[in-house]
Amino acid sequence: MGRPQLCPPQKLKRFTMKFEELRDLVRARRTDMMVDKDRALDDGVIEKLCELAMWAPNHKLTYPWMFAAVTNDARERLSNCVADAMAREGDKPERVAKARTKFQRAPVILIVGTEQGDTPLRTEENRDAVSAGIQNILLGATTLGLASFWSSCPKGVNDDVAKFCEFKPGTHITAMIYLGYPERLAPAIERPPAKIKNITG
Ligand SMILES: Cc1cc2nc3c(=O)[nH]c(=O)nc-3n(C[C@H](O)[C@H](O)[C@H](O)COP(=O)(O)O)c2cc1C
Repeated sequence: MGRPQLCPPQKLKRFTMKFEELRDLVRARRTDMMVDKDRALDDGVIEKLCELAMWAPNHKLTYPWMFAAVTNDARERLSNCVADAMAREGDKPERVAKARTKFQRAPVILIVGTEQGDTPLRTEENRDAVSAGIQNILLGATTLGLASFWSSCPKGVNDDVAKFCEFKPGTHITAMIYLGYPERLAPAIERPPAKIKNITG
């Protein structure tokens, strides 16, 4: 796969953002679904966010992420695709019924897939890289005043969603991200302290 042409070359310069500013941003990102489902995102937002993902570290420069932005009536089609697949997989009827309106809760569902690697190790690394790219997206969304919610693809439904998105067969659906303008400030939460083993000598 060739290098993508879309990203402007990065001019390396001494970086001036303060650690505390980055820390505030990282802490401000929260998983939240309370969004205005009828307010579309501003033009160009999805492109900007996906471009951020392109800068995530990825081993062997495989650029393994694939994106599909699902909006408008396609959200209902996505919900039905997922609900039908859940029913086929024997999911509980009440869960299937809930899924029928699941993706209409936000103006955009950004689906992020991971391409299969040429070995099991590369496939694992690709998924790691895609997760790094997703965090870039979520942080970027936070700076743009958007709420975001990283949701997994329901069990047994991966290939149906990949097909819906016209991703290559074998693509892993790594995130189905709800994005929208928030209707509230997400409640504060705490984090446990980082466990660090200092190994010296
Ligand atoms: C790989 C991954 C999958 C996730 N899938 C779901 C999901 O299916 N449903 C959900 O409610 N949250 C999901 N989350 C979000 C987590 O629940 C959330 O990050 C966690 O509760 C911490 O909250 P915060 O993101 O606001 O810090 C997922 C997060 C990750 C990293």
